[in-house]
Amino acid sequence: MSSRKPVTLHRLREMRANGEKIAVLTCYDAAFARLLDDAGIDALLVGDSLGMVLQGHPSTLGVSVNDMAYHTACVVRGNRTAWVIADMPFGSYQESTEVALRHAVQLLQAGAHMVKLEGGGWTAPIVRSLVERGIPVCAHLGFTPQSVNALGYRVQGRDEAAAGVLREHAEELAAAGASLLVLEMVPAGVARDLTQQLSIPTIGIGAGAGCSGQVLVLHDMLGVTRGDPFRFVRNFMDGSASIELAVRQYVTDVKSGRFPDDKIHGF
Ligand code: KIV
Repeated sequence: MSSRKPVTLHRLREMRANGEKIAVLTCYDAAFARLLDDAGIDALLVGDSLGMVLQGHPSTLGVSVNDMAYHTACVVRGNRTAWVIADMPFGSYQESTEVALRHAVQLLQAGAHMVKLEGGGWTAPIVRSLVERGIPVCAHLGFTPQSVNALGYRVQGRDEAAAGVLREHAEELAAAGASLLVLEMVPAGVARDLTQQLSIPTIGIGAGAGCSGQVLVLHDMLGVTRGDPFRFVRNFMDGSASIELAVRQYVTDVKSGRFPDDKIHGF
């Protein structure tokens, strides 16, 4: 059983300041929450990837706030010390700050410590409104899965102009009060520069080793997901005797900087 103190926002900021990498995995249920927490994962992301991973949808677009609240409550019951982030699903924050607040409240009442929402500068007023009301927010830039129909599965921020837009949005979201930023499928150099420029920790997925921390979809890093894995995924079950050891290896490799390896997993 884990003997560490509960991970707080203050602790995540301290980790960034001390150069200690933040290890994050997605999690959707109590059994895995307990296992991941015991293995030393710093934050559990109840991702709307559950729409694909658990529900079998082709994208995250069909996930409801009730689905997210249900899985958040399951994770919270299994967790003891990790920081819990719940995704705000598609359609739960786009309409207005009032609607966003109502749905964020539902996720915090289910036990989340923080909500995550996708999108650039247009989300800044929503972020500000939630933060002013005491709700910590994680922003999400780069490839944003809820916009898959608009973006396709493509690396974002590849050329100078696109990287500049990404930087502007990141700064706007940090200024609005976001306290974490997920960067997904962004060139490693762009993500490294952003991480150095911003005052808040960045959590990369396909964004290289220069981020303040890393996140992967649990079922991807355990080799459960069928089909060709994304370039940025490593199957930690390869050579591992158990799921727990695979997760411990992930924590060790993220913290030591051995994962990701930009030559293998980077763009
Ligand atoms: O829903 C999710 O799993 C996510 C990660 C891909 C960061 O948002």
